[in-house]
Amino acid sequence: MEPTLIIAGGILLGCLLGLSWFAGSDAPYVPTKIERIKKLLKLAELKRGQVFCELGSGDGRVVIEAAKMGAISYGVEQSWIRVLYSRWKARGLNNIHFIHQDIFKQKFSSADVVFIFLLPKGVAKLEPLLKKNLKKGTKIITQTFHFKNWKPYKKILITEGKPNALLGKNKYEGDFWLYRI
Ligand SMILES: C[S@@+](CC[C@H](N)C(=O)[O-])C[C@H]1O[C@@H](n2cnc3c(N)ncnc32)[C@H](O)[C@@H]1O
Repeated sequence: MEPTLIIAGGILLGCLLGLSWFAGSDAPYVPTKIERIKKLLKLAELKRGQVFCELGSGDGRVVIEAAKMGAISYGVEQSWIRVLYSRWKARGLNNIHFIHQDIFKQKFSSADVVFIFLLPKGVAKLEPLLKKNLKKGTKIITQTFHFKNWKPYKKILITEGKPNALLGKNKYEGDFWLYRI
């Protein structure tokens, strides 16, 4: 085979993998800052043995932290690269599962704590589904974009408190709202 063809094929494959790394139908891949996760899960009072579920689990960092706190942790993610990477990062932990699936195909009915960080359209689509499928008492944490029709019982601002210029006035990247079903 021509070397130029091999190089072109390699570049194309690299671009596809690169795009696939950032793509997401209801939110692109933007990770939650690692130092905020521990604080957040503590404030949400996640307990050992509880079921934690993250819808759109990215590189698995939140699910892994929840598993380290002793929760039975599930991450649902549509990017197979991120799922493989998450499983690799979580090797050695046996209370953790990464599912390669569309979040809208899951029922999450056994969850005690659910975490989502999606764009407004994904959050809006999930709102009625979570209401229908989750058991009473389940806590839901939203990040940056929140439910329109539910009242949070707690709002947490782990950032410096400066609105995010990219998101617009009064939008704080990294504010977390907690709801209870
Ligand atoms: C903003 S990132 C958040 C990643 C992670 N939750 C975190 O906080 O670090 C959103 C993630 O949701 C995933 N995602 C978006 N729409 C999805 C869908 N319909 N089904 C499964 N995963 C989805 C994206 O692939 C991406 O990894």
